Amino acid sequence: MNSTPQLTKKNVALEVRNLRVVFHTYAGVVKAIDGVNLTVHSKELLGLVGESGSGKSVTALAIAGLLPENAEVLEGEVLLRGKDLLKQSKKELRMARLTDIALVFQDPMTYLNPVMTIGTQITEIFTGNLKIYKDELIQSRLDQIENELRQETDPKKISKLNEEKTKLEIKKQNSSGISKKEGKRLAKLLAIEYLKLVKLPEPERVFKMYPFELSGGMRQRAMIAMALVRRPAVLLADEITTALDVTVQAQILKLIKELRDKVDAAIILITHDLGIVAETCDRVAVMYAGNIVEEGDVIEIFKNPLHPYTVGLFGAVPRPDIEKENLEPVPGSVPDLINPPSGCRFHPRCPKAFERCPKSKPPLIEYKPGHKVACFLYGG
Ligand SMILES: Nc1ncnc2c1ncn2[C@@H]1O[C@H](COP(=O)(O)OP(=O)(O)O)[C@@H](O)[C@H]1O
Ligand SMILES: [Mg+2]
Repeated sequence: MNSTPQLTKKNVALEVRNLRVVFHTYAGVVKAIDGVNLTVHSKELLGLVGESGSGKSVTALAIAGLLPENAEVLEGEVLLRGKDLLKQSKKELRMARLTDIALVFQDPMTYLNPVMTIGTQITEIFTGNLKIYKDELIQSRLDQIENELRQETDPKKISKLNEEKTKLEIKKQNSSGISKKEGKRLAKLLAIEYLKLVKLPEPERVFKMYPFELSGGMRQRAMIAMALVRRPAVLLADEITTALDVTVQAQILKLIKELRDKVDAAIILITHDLGIVAETCDRVAVMYAGNIVEEGDVIEIFKNPLHPYTVGLFGAVPRPDIEKENLEPVPGSVPDLINPPSGCRFHPRCPKAFERCPKSKPPLIEYKPGHKVACFLYGG
């Protein structure tokens, strides 16, 4: 468990404000996301939890700009460095997705191209966007050269490295781009660095492998590497460990935690597993039927859950340091989102509901510093 980093206004990476998303289906309009508010800071690991169908994936897809055709964003803002992604042109959005937001899924096979080697898939990100990545490619090779020079004793190799360094420094100053061939060479070297970063064993060998040749855990690592290559400001990880066995799951989560410290990204870890949240996250946001019902520091939420839904959920896992367990569903079932309950969507299942609850929707308020809740028991 990590303590919450000092949060100031400055390091907000992403802010979602009053997001409302519906789906148009033959059965009717599915009111999937009903006014979601969410803030994540750089170098923070935010857990997004809730039962299946609560809207975690739709929230992630909306942030990443990857909602399906039948979805409609009715309202809201997705602010990245103060700019609203939902109001940007297609081109600006493409750019943001290319460089700022990365989404990784449970099943890496839907993300990885089965007929391309891991290496080609990563290097193509760079070579397909040489203008964007020119500086990074050159700089990362220069850093590698510095490292190699420090360890090298063979004068021949030293002079070769120095020669390469000089050439690269000229290219760096030069305003024109780099050739495709040089781009490819540098991209391969950088790709291997990323494979090392996600702790893939024998990165040179993995570089030449196809996705089907990798184990499930290795595939997840490769997918995370591909996402990090874009140096995203926000990394959305949607149930990435759900399909993995417990040991591999623990390794991937450890990696995610390490990456949080190494890369500048804010990480949103989506899961239905409270144990994962307890072990991995700094803060947690609890979703119910398209709303965030509670949000705060992980330790605080585990110790002092406020919302009756959270209390019910966390009843099964009272402390963050105990064995992990899946969400224990609160009695009742997730409501039909075509005809959702009025007012607070949780009221039909809530043991503490009173006359006000079906009448209006409780806003998410800061009940204590850093601890927000959307429930009339706490005012609002
Ligand atoms: N393409 C879609 N068409 C219609 N409804 C959808 C679609 N995708 C998701 N939904 C609905 O949106 C709600 C939230 O789904 P989702 O975000 O996938 O939940 P979670 O990820 O929390 O399990 C659910 O009621 C789901 O049925
Ligand atoms: Mg989901």
